[in-house]
Amino acid sequence: MASVPAGRHPGWPARLGPLIVGAGVVEVRAPRLWDAAAWSRIRRRDQRHLENWEPSVPGTWAERNAGIAWPAQWSTLRALGRRGMSLPFVITVDGEFAGQITVGNVIRGSLCSAWVGYWVDSEVTGGGVATASVALVVDHCFTSAGLHRIEATVRPENAASLRVLTKLGFREEGLFRRYLDVAGDWRDHLCFALTTEDIPKGLVARLIADGGAVLP
Ligand SMILES: CC(C)(COP(=O)(O)OP(=O)(O)OC[C@H]1O[C@@H](n2cnc3c(N)ncnc32)[C@H](O)[C@@H]1OP(=O)(O)O)[C@@H](O)C(=O)NCCC(=O)NCCS
Repeated sequence: MASVPAGRHPGWPARLGPLIVGAGVVEVRAPRLWDAAAWSRIRRRDQRHLENWEPSVPGTWAERNAGIAWPAQWSTLRALGRRGMSLPFVITVDGEFAGQITVGNVIRGSLCSAWVGYWVDSEVTGGGVATASVALVVDHCFTSAGLHRIEATVRPENAASLRVLTKLGFREEGLFRRYLDVAGDWRDHLCFALTTEDIPKGLVARLIADGGAVLP
């Protein structure tokens, strides 16, 4: 069993990368209060790119993604990170805000498991950003954060996200019926997972060996 001292919240905050992919230099870091403007600008512009894949929450898209909404989200993410319940990260490409990747529902004890979720700015999609970010974060979870299993659930219609997970070798484990309220209805999700035994040398090493990223 992974040994994580009681009362400690390992693995957050952290700075991960850099990795070079087609879109640029990818790094992952903790969210900052001053991410508000970039976060809001991208998310308001990318409503059509994002809304079919994200959980339904109250309020209009414009309200929920206004710059003024970020401080409360940032504060919640930071509190969850500090309490070890989540590892919330921002993705940057060439130093600019380009999306988010979050490890949520961190359960320790004899489970040592969590889920990973992510989104990427439509202006840099197709360039390996999500793949590199998931690889960095999963390796971090399996080392510094002391987790054993990472799960990702994806709508069967989400071809881009399915491709990210299959490129990284996530194992498809089943179909969760009417699993999550997304875009206003209960949607089926495919469940994918990795455990530490699947990647003894890590995802980043595998991605680099496969030509999907290079070190600077
Ligand atoms: C899913 C998402 C994060 C992918 O980000 P990304 O940075 O473009 O991911 P990558 O470039 O690392 O990989 C995407 C892969 O999907 C492929 N792809 C993209 N659209 C596709 C489509 N419609 N059908 C099939 N493959 C597709 C790309 O070609 C690429 O594969 P390749 O490297 O073999 O060419 C991004 O599209 C996004 O933010 N989507 C909206 C939010 C979302 O779906 N989040 C995940 C919820 S589970």
